[in-house]
Amino acid sequence: MSTYEQKIQLKFKLLSKIYGIMDLIYFSNKKSSPRYGLLNNISNKHQRLLDVCFGAGHSVILIAENKPNVAITGIDMSKDMLALARKNMKKENISGIETFEMDATQMDFGDETFDIVTISLSLHEMEPDIVQKTLAEIFRVLKKGGVFYITEWAVPRNFFKRIFFKCTIPIMEPGTFKDFMKINWNTFLTEHQFTFDRIDRYSYTQFIVATK
Ligand SMILES: C[S@@+](CC[C@H](N)C(=O)[O-])C[C@H]1O[C@@H](n2cnc3c(N)ncnc32)[C@H](O)[C@@H]1O
Repeated sequence: MSTYEQKIQLKFKLLSKIYGIMDLIYFSNKKSSPRYGLLNNISNKHQRLLDVCFGAGHSVILIAENKPNVAITGIDMSKDMLALARKNMKKENISGIETFEMDATQMDFGDETFDIVTISLSLHEMEPDIVQKTLAEIFRVLKKGGVFYITEWAVPRNFFKRIFFKCTIPIMEPGTFKDFMKINWNTFLTEHQFTFDRIDRYSYTQFIVATK
């Protein structure tokens, strides 16, 4: 196991104990939740969706509940987060999501397998070279014309939320977080061969949409 993988396994072994709290604190309001933002962007047609860095499944469990025609696959490197995801799915009575323990930088899927790829609140945790490799893999497994949705932290516009964000999120994140927050997504995704579409804002997050 690489040092990087060991670090992820350990970090998320600990975080899996409290991970549910994050959604309660930052995304309890449906209107400003990026989870609902993602849900509203996905149609119920027969299509394959891959959620990279699946975590506890928060991003796509809602999709599985509301869009039964969408075939969902989730991958994550952390055994503990996947175990928590399975517990969450059992609680919600969801059986249709297939999950795999897999590294986002080396996916076991063929080229152009998925119509949609999503990644939520994960790229900011990665070293720049891991981000590059992950984006290259996402590009490879996404079908031509497929859509790529990224949910990431954004500094809130509301004064009180901004203070709360600044006092909480950066202290939990790695040293690369400050630079990550300066990314110009249009330029960055274009450099990675995607066609940038738009950014929607939620109170603590941004929702970035691109196509292949
Ligand atoms: C902060 S969590 C986000 C989870 C979920 N997407 C969400 O929105 O709540 C980041 C997740 O990325 C996973 N991860 C980090 N690097 C990874 C990699 N190279 N391959 C697969 N999963 C990875 C971690 O195990 C963790 O579950």
